Amino acid sequence: MDANENQECWKTTPNLTKFTAVEKDVSCMRELEQNVKKYLPGDIMVDLHLAPAQKWQGPLEKADLVFSIHSIYYFKEEDRKVIFENCFNKWLKPNGKLFILMNKDKFDTPTPYYLNDIFRETGRVPLIESYIVKKELLKLGCTIDRSFHYQYYQDLQAGYDHAVPFVMIHANPPYENEEVPKKAIMKLIKRGNKGYASGTMFSVIEKY
Ligand SMILES: C[S@@+](CC[C@H](N)C(=O)[O-])C[C@H]1O[C@@H](n2cnc3c(N)ncnc32)[C@H](O)[C@@H]1O
Repeated sequence: MDANENQECWKTTPNLTKFTAVEKDVSCMRELEQNVKKYLPGDIMVDLHLAPAQKWQGPLEKADLVFSIHSIYYFKEEDRKVIFENCFNKWLKPNGKLFILMNKDKFDTPTPYYLNDIFRETGRVPLIESYIVKKELLKLGCTIDRSFHYQYYQDLQAGYDHAVPFVMIHANPPYENEEVPKKAIMKLIKRGNKGYASGTMFSVIEKY
């Protein structure tokens, strides 16, 4: 659970009165519970569901906003379709918005960005990028409303433990073993690459 990004997202919803979350992993859910206690004002109604989002029955009441924060990579194409359709047909109020936050696409990070540098160094592409997600949404009749970008310095050495498991799951074609990305990161560090993290968040609405 990235507390910084969660804090930033919560800052964007100053009128929040109700917070519903779906998480399929027990330990991640525990972390979420702690972050909710730490960062959300106590008067907000919280409703947490331990379930795979693609099979979740949905909120009791329709929502104004749905946030997908660094989680879209974990869904197969057919699951993404189910989630997007549920968002606009069942979970969101009319005029509701879906926000998707994810890593920047490889082509979109010409300046150092450590995850994409690992993919570049090893001849891989990320399994899922925002241009693919946007194409799927457009095919469903949605409109990409606005896009926001961020970038911040992140020490490569410090991000090492976090980056290796992530790229192991998200590299296309897949890595044979962990040694491949590990070696690439060491090479980048030795080369003096400081490492940045960046991302993109875009909002999605139903076509007018
Ligand atoms: C990289 S973490 C991001 C967590 C959080 N949104 C953040 O930014 O700190 C991805 C999260 O998605 C969850 N996840 C993966 N597949 C899921 C699924 N099918 N349904 C619900 N949650 C899922 C993982 O358990 C993990 O907590």
